[in-house]
Amino acid sequence: MLFYFSATGNSLFAARTISDQIGEDYVSMVDCIEDERFRFAFSKDERVGFVFPCYFWGLPPIVKSFVENLSTSDFEGRHLFLVMTCGSVIGSALGDAVRYFKANGIHVSAAYRLLMPENYVIVFKAPSDKQLRRRLNHSAAILTRIITDVHESRTNHHPTMLSRIMILPSRVFHAYYQKHRSTRPFSVSDRCIGCGLCARICPTHSIAMLDEKPEWHGDCLQCLGCLNRCPTAAIDYGRMTQKRGRYVHPDGFAEHSTH
Ligand SMILES: Cc1cc2nc3c(=O)[nH]c(=O)nc-3n(C[C@H](O)[C@H](O)[C@H](O)COP(=O)(O)O)c2cc1C
Ligand code: SF4
Ligand code: SF4
Repeated sequence: MLFYFSATGNSLFAARTISDQIGEDYVSMVDCIEDERFRFAFSKDERVGFVFPCYFWGLPPIVKSFVENLSTSDFEGRHLFLVMTCGSVIGSALGDAVRYFKANGIHVSAAYRLLMPENYVIVFKAPSDKQLRRRLNHSAAILTRIITDVHESRTNHHPTMLSRIMILPSRVFHAYYQKHRSTRPFSVSDRCIGCGLCARICPTHSIAMLDEKPEWHGDCLQCLGCLNRCPTAAIDYGRMTQKRGRYVHPDGFAEHSTH
């Protein structure tokens, strides 16, 4: 069984590709949280993986809350692996993730960083077609190596020394994110067609549709699912996103799927 969290399709694509290759199912962590499904009866040799993005050199809060709720006895003695998708550097995030699972009673056997296209269009430009093709080819090669490892239930050692050196800077960087997840900069333009997709896909229900237009409130993860997946690019976050383009993995979500 693979558990994934994905806002723009990178982690979903990775989870689905690994699942297909190793013959296990994959399930959305958001759907599990909504269904209050935290107990799992795995088969004898079932491999268990968690696939999710890096957020500000740390774990997305929704992944943390899912892990905190899991029944740890279900995971005892299993080959359990993590795949953290990212757009560039991740500080000590992978090592921190391993430590976080351990602190919640779950032993991680192997952890991988998977470089994929950047979706944080608040700061970075969405990749051009050429950059996207190059990055996806590179990701496919890393993914193949991860799948070989998982097939053979290989273990690896995280955190690395470098990851340990980065613990303090990562904490500071991630704390900045935790403090600045404001919904205030969101705006919607006249291009909005009132389809409601943004509200349906929001993993924290931070969007309400009022008069067929989205309004933001509550505990936004800044996952940028709403902004990147809006079919008319009607959503902005401050002014900078007007010039950054949008990113969704080309083979991530089916058109109207939620999580
Ligand atoms: C809030 C936020 C923070 C991010 N922080 C990082 C980061 O610290 N390092 C990094 O390499 N990528 C970062 N990214 C990029 C994503 O981790 C990356 O594009 C990921 O593959 C997106 O996964 P998804 O498509 O499954 O949502 C960030 C993206 C978001 C939305
Ligand atoms: S997804 Fe875009 S078009 Fe659809 S309701 Fe939201 S802002 Fe409007
Ligand atoms: S409001 Fe948008 S950015 Fe915030 S959690 Fe919901 S989908 Fe993600």
